[in-house]
Amino acid sequence: MSEINYDYIVQYIRALHTPPEGVLLEIEQLIACEKETWPIIKPEVADFMKVLLTMHKPKQILEIGAAVGYSAMLMSQFLEEEGQITTIERFSYMYETASKNIKRAGLEDKIQIIEGDAAEVLTTLEDEKYDVVFMDCAKGQYINFLPHCIRVLRPGGILITDNVLHKGTVARSRYLIDRRQRTTHARLRDFLYTITHDDRLTSSVIPIGDGVALSYKK
Ligand SMILES: C[S@@+](CC[C@H](N)C(=O)[O-])C[C@H]1O[C@@H](n2cnc3c(N)ncnc32)[C@H](O)[C@@H]1O
Repeated sequence: MSEINYDYIVQYIRALHTPPEGVLLEIEQLIACEKETWPIIKPEVADFMKVLLTMHKPKQILEIGAAVGYSAMLMSQFLEEEGQITTIERFSYMYETASKNIKRAGLEDKIQIIEGDAAEVLTTLEDEKYDVVFMDCAKGQYINFLPHCIRVLRPGGILITDNVLHKGTVARSRYLIDRRQRTTHARLRDFLYTITHDDRLTSSVIPIGDGVALSYKK
């Protein structure tokens, strides 16, 4: 078993995925032929996000964790007119690569990338500005970043959080988890318990990719 679902189900679902075009396709191909090991959202998560964004029609999106800009560029296709994406990335190599990709795709006017640690950048962002927050960074930080995600989301906005099941290990007893992974395991459980029990949110945990949490701010 890999990730959460059985391989054959994942393979079947991925075969249904329509490949993107342009710079997004180039990034997918570089990863597929193992020329690059860039971390990007899984195809089934990309498809899920496309549906959510089509329904939600966001004007302002915040992303925490840009990597090479793949998901930011994907999400930009679903922005309302004059919409903007702000994405945060702390690793210089990723920041530089994302900046180049966004420029090559001609999306500099739609995507603003901020180089820095989200722990600091988040404190500078306006309250209730964003229609969608996509959190896809260090999993151990999710519980710490959650109060900011809730603060910057407008009522009616959605928080999408990726990789919340950590290869399915989050659903296992902590005693079955490698000692080095126990802190992440505890923090992810804390995060999932909080989003599903906070009165300000309605949340659902979906076992696709490495686990996606979807939270609606009431
Ligand atoms: C899984 S990748 C993001 C993938 C990207 N969203 C995509 O699908 O194309 C996670 C990224 O988050 C960045 N990151 C991790 N912790 C961060 C933090 N505290 N602040 C800013 N960036 C962070 C990492 O450097 C990495 O590039």
